[in-house]
Amino acid sequence: MTEAERDLRTRMVETCRKMNSTGLNQGTAGNLSARHGDGFLITPSSMPYDIMQPEDIVDMAWDGTYAGRRPSSEWRFHRDILKARPDVDVVLHCHSTYATSVACHHRTIPAFHYMVGVMGGTTLRCAAYATFGTQALSDAAIEALQDRKACLLGQHGQISLGKTLDAALWMAVEVETLARMYQQACVLGEPPVLSDEEMARVIAQMQRMSYGLGPEEEGSNDVARPRKA
Ligand code: 13P
Repeated sequence: MTEAERDLRTRMVETCRKMNSTGLNQGTAGNLSARHGDGFLITPSSMPYDIMQPEDIVDMAWDGTYAGRRPSSEWRFHRDILKARPDVDVVLHCHSTYATSVACHHRTIPAFHYMVGVMGGTTLRCAAYATFGTQALSDAAIEALQDRKACLLGQHGQISLGKTLDAALWMAVEVETLARMYQQACVLGEPPVLSDEEMARVIAQMQRMSYGLGPEEEGSNDVARPRKA
């Protein structure tokens, strides 16, 4: 194993632990993958993050064959998203409480707040429900992620994407925060939404200022990350 691969595996374990220590995820729910070599690295299935070690991370090829432990039951959507989306290198899935609560109502979150724009459009879509671990769930996720960096999964949780591990984790926190704000705003009735024209201005402004991109711009998973001044 190269030093770069060992470093990536170590940072994947750290990211999983942060997912739980920050309250974003609970127990062994959730999973994480990162593009690597001729395929990707993915967390093993049902292993508590506090005992997970870098060598427990599973090396998987695009055809679904793997070496080592049993991969996450959700390897299909990790594989399919990484294949379909050359713009991202990391897929993070978790059962964060507020995002999942909204997803339990199959609600797509509208542009009630301008930060919906950091996901890439005017909505944070909710994918149709399908049994965990199935191709049907992967297909639904791919559809909901069209032109987006995140989606909700009906009666399940959320998926967040990034160019780096930090960026995907950052996006998952943004999704959870927006879902929490949306639920709170709905207490006073369905909130008004920003127009498509305003959201186009917001997204253009975000792109111009690299606003809300978090650690997205700081490099890929396998190279040292230069910081911008
Ligand atoms: P795994 O432990 O198999 O990754 O499953 C957790 C999960 O969240 C399934 O959606």
